Amino acid sequence: MALLNTTNRWGGVSKTLHWLMAVMLVGALTVGLIMNDWPDDDPVTKARLYHMHQSFGMLLLLLVLVRLGWRSTQAVPAPPAGSWRLTRRAAAISHGLLYASMLLIPVTGYLMVSSGPHAEPFYAFGLVHVPFLIGPNETLQGVFRLTHDVLTKLFMVLIIIHVLAAMKHGLVNRDGVWSRMWFGRRQTPDEG
Ligand code: HEM
Ligand code: HEM
Repeated sequence: MALLNTTNRWGGVSKTLHWLMAVMLVGALTVGLIMNDWPDDDPVTKARLYHMHQSFGMLLLLLVLVRLGWRSTQAVPAPPAGSWRLTRRAAAISHGLLYASMLLIPVTGYLMVSSGPHAEPFYAFGLVHVPFLIGPNETLQGVFRLTHDVLTKLFMVLIIIHVLAAMKHGLVNRDGVWSRMWFGRRQTPDEG
């Protein structure tokens, strides 16, 4: 598998980052949603869920920075031939919003925890010390919590739209957009 992108397919590095992050993001969203409602009479599991959420969240922040850095050095596959201008614009905007969410959600999560009443230092995965850049501040914490919560809801909507669009490409249009992001030997129509 070629590692680098070309103008008509994604390379192995981009595909791996896309799918690895997709799995981890769905995991972070799921844990984020369940940890809050976890019964208070099981504080050990609840604390573990929070720790896991925050650790994977910080890792996701690192990964999106790597992904954006890598993308800036690479060719980006062109939209399928014959697609409408409006569809291309919609795809570009929704991909931009997905990237913005992938950046802003972990940043606001981190700032929320940073401005919270931290009793103990935060070691991501129990290993990497993540310093708190802000001291405890209830107002700021509330603002970051609200932003984090609202952004995650918008992100879920964006992901659903994205998946539906990918399914349309794969099942209805059959224009190679799905197969060029998937692994395997099938080539895009452009490559014959
Ligand atoms: C891309 C990464 C992340 C995703 C997808 C994500 C997603 C979520 C979701 C869905 C919730 C539940 C929101 C709700 O109850 O309405 C949540 C809550 C939370 N997240 Fe994240 N999060 C991410 C990164 C982070 C990071 C990096 C931190 C901190 C270092 C963090 C800290 C928290 C905390 C403390 C809550 C509980 C908020 C509350 O008490 O209401 N998150 N997150
Ligand atoms: C769950 C979180 C996901 C996120 C945040 C995400 C994000 C993205 C982004 C930002 C791009 C554009 C890549 C770029 O321009 O650099 C992309 C492309 C793509 N995604 Fe996702 N994705 C996710 C999940 C999925 C899933 C579940 C599917 C399939 C069912 C999928 C199918 C695709 C396909 C086929 C492309 C290629 C589009 C093209 O070549 O023009 N994605 N994704």
